[in-house]
Order: sequence, then C-alpha cells, then structure tokens
Amino acid sequence: MTGGGDCAGLNAAIRTVVQLAHHKYGWEVVGIKNGYEGLIHGESEPLGLTDVRGILRRGGTILGASNRTDPFHYVDPSTGDVVDASDQSFANIQSLGLDAIVIIGGDGTLALSHQFSRKFSFPMVGIPKTIDNDVHGTDYAIGFDTAISIVAEAVDRLHTTAESHHRVMLIEVMGRTTGWISLYSGIAGGADIILMPERPYSLAAIVESIERRKHLGRHFTIAIVAEGIMSPSGSQVFREVAAVAHASKLGGVCFELQGELAEQTDQEVRSIVLGHLQRGGSPTAFDRILATELAAHAMQCLASQTFDVVAGWTGDSVIHTPMEDVARGPRLVPPDHPLIDAALGLGVYIG
Ligand code: F6P
Repeated sequence: MTGGGDCAGLNAAIRTVVQLAHHKYGWEVVGIKNGYEGLIHGESEPLGLTDVRGILRRGGTILGASNRTDPFHYVDPSTGDVVDASDQSFANIQSLGLDAIVIIGGDGTLALSHQFSRKFSFPMVGIPKTIDNDVHGTDYAIGFDTAISIVAEAVDRLHTTAESHHRVMLIEVMGRTTGWISLYSGIAGGADIILMPERPYSLAAIVESIERRKHLGRHFTIAIVAEGIMSPSGSQVFREVAAVAHASKLGGVCFELQGELAEQTDQEVRSIVLGHLQRGGSPTAFDRILATELAAHAMQCLASQTFDVVAGWTGDSVIHTPMEDVARGPRLVPPDHPLIDAALGLGVYIG
C-alpha cells in the first residue's frame, strides 16, 4: 500500500516487494489501491510479476495514493461527518485474508499505520518515502533525491535568465515544515540565499545580501524559499486551508516575500513556485537503489517476524526503527547539519 503524496521511486519499491515475494519467499501479494482510502473501501488487486514489469523507471505509484485520508477520522463524503473507519478497514483486511501489510509512506502515513497496527495487533512494516525527507529513522526517504535533482536543474535554468535580466529570483520549493529540500537543492544549485522553516530570517539581512552581491559585480540573486517559512508578516502562507489542520496545503509565501523585497531593493524581484514538478517523473538512480534496498529490508523484517518497524538507510547500512519512534512528527534539519556550516562558509545567507 502506498500512502501520502506520490513521489518518484514508489514503483521501484513495489516491484521489489512483488519480485522478492515471488522469487525468494513464495508469498502472494495484493496491492491496496489509493492508500488508506482504498483500505477503507476494500479496493485491492492481486499483484503478480507481470504487473510490475517495466515499472522501475516509472514515477508515481501504480497503486494510487491518497494524502488526506485518516481511517480514524474519516470524512464521509456523503454526509461530511467525521467517523472512525478503522474497524471497517480491518474487516477488509480480514476478508482479503492478508497476513501483513507493507506500507510505503511518509511520517503521517507511518504514524497512522503505527496506530492501526497497535489497535488491531496486525503486522505492518514501513518503508519511508517523501520528497520532504522528514521521516525519522532514515537519512534519506524515497523520492527526495529525485526532487532535489529536479530543483537543482530548475535553479540552473533560472540562473541564466536571472543573470541576463539582473533580477532577484525567488524559487519556492516544497518540504512542508522542514527545509531539507531547500537546503540540499540550494547547495546543489549554487543559491545565494536559502530560507528554511528551521531558521528564522530577516528581510534586512536578505536585502543586505542582495546589495553585497551588487557591490561584487553580481547583479542578480538566486534565493531558494521553503514553502513552510514564516512570511514577513509572521505567519505561514497556505494555498488551500482545510477543515482538518494537517490537510491544509502550504504554498505562495514567495509572493509575499517578493512584495516586501520589491519595496527595499531597486532590482526587479520575480517569484516562481516549482510545486508538483518536484514530485513527478522518473526516479534518479539513487532513488531506485534506495527503494530497492529499503523494500528488500522490509521483506526481511516480515520474514523474521519483526513487525511494527520502518526500514531506513544510514549511509553505510540498512536498518529498521520501531514505528513508534518514526511516528513522533517530522524530522527537522538539525542546527549542526554539516550543509548548514558549508552554506555559511560559502557566504550563502541562510537565516
Ligand atoms: O509531503 C509531500 C508534499 O509534496 C509536500 O512537500 C507538500 O506541502 C504537499 O505534499 C503537497 O500536497 P498536495 O499534493 O496535496 O498538494
């Protein structure tokens, strides 16, 4: 089952689960469609070798995903009432005769899965995925490397036009409440300013950084702006506000920043929101390898009856962490992260 927002590399993980189940373990695989939404409604399909042929390089998820559905607080579409649909979901699991679920999800989906597996004592093993890279228990989540590669390429393209027109270019990236995408893609793209939710910034310091570059003969500035930063007026900016807080969608802060900056510099300031481009397309080689390793490890956990854990990657080994520890909210960029130090050393304004 794939839950939460889609990203590149999900299919590589699904393919590994199905191929190992067939070749190594002799298990049957059933795909739950559309994440928890499909589990609530009993939507599934058998997954055999032919179903996963050719999907390694395909973005998105062949199973579909949903990023608003919480089985414990399910908004009934016909009445609008919030109901507990977890018993109904478990009844579907039983009627399908499932022995365990491999859940590929971000921190929200994995937290729900921990709650679900605890309530029904049902075996679940998690695989972390999200372009935001904010899942505890792993250095990298599936989809992050592809997302930062897309952003870095976009920054390269925006660099040439910013330089030609002597502009300040604000490039808004996703990441929700964390700055992993902005930090990594900012470094990869050679940004002059990187703004992330973990580090408060000041408008005056941004203006100073733009002016300093001008004095050095650099009449353009590239700023990467994480969608989750506080706006100059002191709040986060949402493009969509939902009844349930966690379902509200961040986006658009770069336009507020553009307005404020335009009053304080004589350079033209332009904004671009990269949006869902960051989640689309074919996975990088790294994401394919990561997805394969994490899925293989999740299968090993199932085989050894190590349940309620999430597979993770630490750079030199593949590990697993109790889902309970992963479920404690988003993983922030730590203040002592080496890339922050590197950015400061490079003269990047980073808040
Ligand atoms: O969590 C992944 C993510 O892409 C975030 O970076 C972003 O804020 C959110 O999902 C967007 O969600 P949606 O696709 O529902 O607009």
